[in-house]
Amino acid sequence: MMNVGDRLNLGCGPNAPAGLVNLDGSWNAWFTHHQCLRKALQRFGIINSSNQGAQWNVSPVVHDLRDPLPFEENTFFAVYGSHVLEHLYRSEADTLLAECRRILKPGGVLRLVVPDLHALVQNYLKNTNGGSTSQSEQAPADWLNERLAFRSAQPPGGNLAFKAYGFWKDFHSHKWMYDADSLSHYFENAGFASVMKKEYRCSEIRGIEEVEEPERVLEGAGICIEGKKLHA
Ligand SMILES: C[S@@+](CC[C@H](N)C(=O)[O-])C[C@H]1O[C@@H](n2cnc3c(N)ncnc32)[C@H](O)[C@@H]1O
Repeated sequence: MMNVGDRLNLGCGPNAPAGLVNLDGSWNAWFTHHQCLRKALQRFGIINSSNQGAQWNVSPVVHDLRDPLPFEENTFFAVYGSHVLEHLYRSEADTLLAECRRILKPGGVLRLVVPDLHALVQNYLKNTNGGSTSQSEQAPADWLNERLAFRSAQPPGGNLAFKAYGFWKDFHSHKWMYDADSLSHYFENAGFASVMKKEYRCSEIRGIEEVEEPERVLEGAGICIEGKKLHA
């Protein structure tokens, strides 16, 4: 029987199942622990309830993944992260992979889901080979830019507090994209063994269906890479 504390979900967002230790660094995560302040800021119009200060029905551990993970070594049987690694710079991602290995028990599994750079580029090329785009359709270049998500189409909006927060943390833009080969390579560099691409909800992590969402993997949405920590 697996304990609640055996599996960690990195960058959980609002998808934070009760059976896992969930972690996120955003201010929405922070506000889940400071609901009164959130309400007060909303009342004074400093934040609004759309994406700024959105109400999450979960209370994750609040932590910035660019800092060392706040857990002892050999703590978890499994570490999971969906659509989060690409929000870190490449060197920060390496540090996080090493941290994941540190906090996993020997035999523990790391599984990361990321957007598939290969599928995105292939789709773009397929759509551009078809000739000109009608005015009602999105141009393939715009489609690709949206998925790459390095920058949004508009400069950051919202009030000063939200802009300052976005500038300070910059959690929501992508910094580096991966295909299955490159992410597998970085897993191996970090000391993971038996690294391989896995299908949706096909995992050595028991109860993967509790946390893995179809819209994050299926229909080209993402690839899953899994690796094992063999020894301490
Ligand atoms: C695209 S969402 C994915 C949410 C969820 N895992 C899913 O698949 O639906 C990325 C999440 O990673 C979090 N995040 C991004 N950079 C982070 C960082 N440096 N530290 C902690 N959380 C971060 C964001 O706050 C956001 O909740």
